[in-house]
Amino acid sequence: MKINVLFSPLQADELYFTGKTTVIIDVLRATTTIITALSNGAKEVIPVNSVEFAMKVSGNFFGGQTLLSGERNTRKIEGFNLGNSPLEYTKEAVHGKSIVLFTTNGSRAIVKAKFSETLVMCAFINLNAVAKYCADLDKDLEIVCAGKSGGFCIEDSLCAGKLIYELLNYKKDLKLTDAAKASLTLNDIYGRNIVQTLIDSEHGQLLTENGFAEDINFCSRLAVSEVIPFFSGGSIKPLNLPVHPISVEEDKNKKE
Ligand code: MLT
Repeated sequence: MKINVLFSPLQADELYFTGKTTVIIDVLRATTTIITALSNGAKEVIPVNSVEFAMKVSGNFFGGQTLLSGERNTRKIEGFNLGNSPLEYTKEAVHGKSIVLFTTNGSRAIVKAKFSETLVMCAFINLNAVAKYCADLDKDLEIVCAGKSGGFCIEDSLCAGKLIYELLNYKKDLKLTDAAKASLTLNDIYGRNIVQTLIDSEHGQLLTENGFAEDINFCSRLAVSEVIPFFSGGSIKPLNLPVHPISVEEDKNKKE
């Protein structure tokens, strides 16, 4: 089983993913939010590439049971129902809903990899579930970090490294590319202090400045969900039905 890491979606074009098994990571915050939404009973998440397309999709297709969600520069987009803070995706807010999601990096990375044979989303909160799923699949893996505006970001690469570390518990003979080895090394250095690494990260600092410090605590929790978001036919649904909803109240109470 060979594992490669792309530190940015810009490292490949759409056709590169044809027939591949791909894992998308956007810890702060898109994939964490998608996992939380599905864990709290959302029907599906539809990732889109632009705000205009989000408006178009939400208007035409789903009638009433649709939430328009997403961020620009970390803040909720005007006229949208929800932003991209996982704390907003409570059971009350999203149960049974279709969520049209636009974010700066994460939703675009997912759309870019749409030709993958298997396309799932990972973050720290569902990391162990994704590691087991990929080990059972026993297929070569492309781990794609959503990154930051086309560039490298430490939180996604650290999460990629921790995923590889977990996979090594299942399979000792993994073949790692240099990018995969570098991610594993990041986990050796920062893996024991995820929350501080996220707080100190460039995007973590921006989120804190913009009043989303609690999101960082939430996004740094390890393996609290078994939900594996699976992309198929333009929409993301849980591969396995959520067993335990993820409580966001806990974090909210801390916030108040
Ligand atoms: C992204 O897609 O760039 C992030 O999830 C943005 C954010 O929510 O802060």
